Amino acid sequence: MDFGMKNRLSKIFNPKTGKTVMLAVDHGYFQGPTTGLRDMKGITPLIPNADCLFVTRGILRNCIDPKIDTPVCLRVSGGPSILGDLSNEDITTSMEEAVRLNASGVGMSIFVGAKNEDRTISNLGRLINEAERYGIPVLAITAVGKEMARDSRYLGLACRMAAEIGAHFVKTYFCEDFHKVAEGCPVPIVIAGGKKIPELDALLMTEGAIKAGASGVDMGRNIFQSDNPVGMIKAVRAIVHKGVSAKEAFDIYEKTKKPQSTGSERDIDEQMEKV
Ligand code: 5RP
Repeated sequence: MDFGMKNRLSKIFNPKTGKTVMLAVDHGYFQGPTTGLRDMKGITPLIPNADCLFVTRGILRNCIDPKIDTPVCLRVSGGPSILGDLSNEDITTSMEEAVRLNASGVGMSIFVGAKNEDRTISNLGRLINEAERYGIPVLAITAVGKEMARDSRYLGLACRMAAEIGAHFVKTYFCEDFHKVAEGCPVPIVIAGGKKIPELDALLMTEGAIKAGASGVDMGRNIFQSDNPVGMIKAVRAIVHKGVSAKEAFDIYEKTKKPQSTGSERDIDEQMEKV
């Protein structure tokens, strides 16, 4: 691997732990204004707690302060909305643009087992060919079609295919027997969080994934839709980088929660908001 590729990967994966906590905020590229991301200002306090921000170029340009220290991995695929056939994606952002935006990586979805499986895989190949020229790591996201089971057989197939095509790291979902997915994939795997679940369950999932061989997370809704997003990302970090248990991490989330305001305080807050 060339210096540029290694250097960018070391921005995403902490060289001390070899792991990463990526914050995924790209959901709007097919879901529109997702709960928790309607106003992107809400993610500002999360950014310093992330090892990498996974984002589209539109949000990066319009909503993210260019002075941030956190590296960026750019979502470069898209096309269909949540109303259409999600597998009908293409590459939407050029490598030149990724370089211009100082991206440390680029990511796109592949849809193994879906209608446009073969096109998404050949798009991945093309993206990697170009990314290799610039020394930019490629994240392949094993998106799951509505009809596919999220089990180790299917996710293992999708992750291995992505690695064989040349992806430098892969994002997938946690599942039972996740160690089988990790064992069969020769490049680092990060897990997506999926739909919002109770905080302790999301932390147990993180712990389970790390213990089974994941190299981190690229988590979105279970962080930014939490009632304590900063506490939640700190808790996830403690599992990923310090190896604490989900229960210990849950204490971090709980202890950093702002106390619920009393009725009279709420009235004052509401009045202040009107000023
Ligand atoms: C959507 C994505 C998201 O980045 C990914 O799903 C992570 O977010 P979440 O933790 O909310 O699932 O790639 O295709």
